[in-house]
Order: sequence, then C-alpha cells, then structure tokens
Amino acid sequence: MRLVARGVTHQYPQGDHQVLAGVDFDIPAGTSAAVIGPSGSGKTTLLSLMGNLLPLQTGTITAVDEDGVERSLTYTASWVLQTVSLLPDRSAVDNVAVGAYSDGATRADAWGRSIECLAAVGLSGREDDPARILSGGEAQRVAIARALASRRPIILADEPTGQLDAKTSATVLDAMIGSHGERTVVVVTHDPEVADRCDVVLELRDGRIHQRTNRRSLKER
Ligand SMILES: Nc1ncnc2c1ncn2[C@@H]1O[C@H](COP(=O)(O)OP(=O)(O)O)[C@@H](O)[C@H]1O
Ligand SMILES: [Mg+2]
Repeated sequence: MRLVARGVTHQYPQGDHQVLAGVDFDIPAGTSAAVIGPSGSGKTTLLSLMGNLLPLQTGTITAVDEDGVERSLTYTASWVLQTVSLLPDRSAVDNVAVGAYSDGATRADAWGRSIECLAAVGLSGREDDPARILSGGEAQRVAIARALASRRPIILADEPTGQLDAKTSATVLDAMIGSHGERTVVVVTHDPEVADRCDVVLELRDGRIHQRTNRRSLKER
C-alpha cells in the first residue's frame, strides 16, 4: 500500500500554533519510513492523523493499493501506540490473538499466528506469561506482535523501539517490515539506527516534512 499526504495541516483547538503547516510525503508500497524530528515537532500528531485517530483539518492522507484504488486507513492500518495498552491479566499470546481476531481469524488460526508473531519479535517461551509481569520492552514487543497478527498492510508505530536495545530493535524492525515488502511501515523514532534501517526518512521541521530516501524501494531493488 502506497501512502500519500498532501497539504496536511493541524492546529489543536487549545494550541497557539499550527503543529503541522502543510505536510506532504509519498511512501512507496512495501517500504519503511522513519518519522524523525525534535520532541514536540508533531510526530505523534501526524501518525494520529494517518490512523484517523484525529480528524483531518485540511489536506489529504491516502492509502493507494496496487490497482491504484484508494483505501481507508481505518481498515488497512494497524497501530502500535506510544502508550502500550495490553490486557494485564491475559497472557502474551491472548493479547496478540486480539490482532488476529480483528482480522477475522478463527480461534485455532489466531493461536498459531500469535505464536509465530511472538517468535518474530523474540518472545518465544513467554506465550503464557500474563502481560502485567512483562517488562516495558517486552510489553512493547507484544503490542508489535499484536499489530503483525492483524495482517493489515500498513503498520503505524509510535516509538516502538523506545525501550529496546540495538539488537532487539533491529529484530523487531525487520519483523515489522517483513521479508517481501508485504507491508508499508511508518515508525516514529528518536533512534538514528532505526532511521538508517528504513527506506525513507521523513524529517519534521517547522511543521513540514523533508523527505529523503535511504535506499531504493523494494520494487526498484
Ligand atoms: N491534545 C492536545 N492539545 C493541545 N496541544 C497538543 C495536544 N497534543 C499535542 N499537542 C501539542 O502539539 C505539539 C506536537 O505534539 P506531538 O505531536 O505529540 O509531538 P511529538 O510526538 O513530535 O513529540 C506539541 O507542542 C504538543 O504540546
Ligand atoms: Mg510523540
């Protein structure tokens, strides 16, 4: 799924300035994009607009499938929020299964998928642990596995590797990106190594995006 933004602005009702002052970007299908920028520059705001968690004021953000058809991000994107929300008394695998159920998986299918997705983020063996005993970084990875289990073609993740060491961040980012470019991934990050691993970098400065390409998109490789 390709993601295109044109002229997106945002000002919070209580705010004294435009957080986003005309944002444009174009993320090719099956690539990863890092959103970087100083604290308070509007990264979470931009991701919230992409996921329809905040209503658009002006401009457009569209997901375009391989046939050129526009699709709603509400149904094509899955989320990894900055504040990880898991069901504390349910096991890691039950929490991940929520993602699979959201995609209409049967119980048996959801179970199998969830175990695979936990393995992909390096949590094999932790399936039965209740979420409340997991560390911050482990809980973050369960939330990522939950997004993977939904099999939606877009993942929007707000600082998903914030509590992870370099090696685990790399594993998790690779799991999100997938091996065949089956997903388009947008990650907000403060970590230069994570940004370097992404195909595209979207730098937010003064309410605008400065887009650069680290590598050619998968299709061109
Ligand atoms: N609900 C809100 N109401 C008013 N201002 C907000 C709200 N949420 C965020 N802001 C302000 O918008 C700006 C951008 O915030 P945010 O998108 O969270 O930045 P970032 O994720 O880059 O740190 C900040 O100045 C922040 O204080
Ligand atoms: Mg933020």
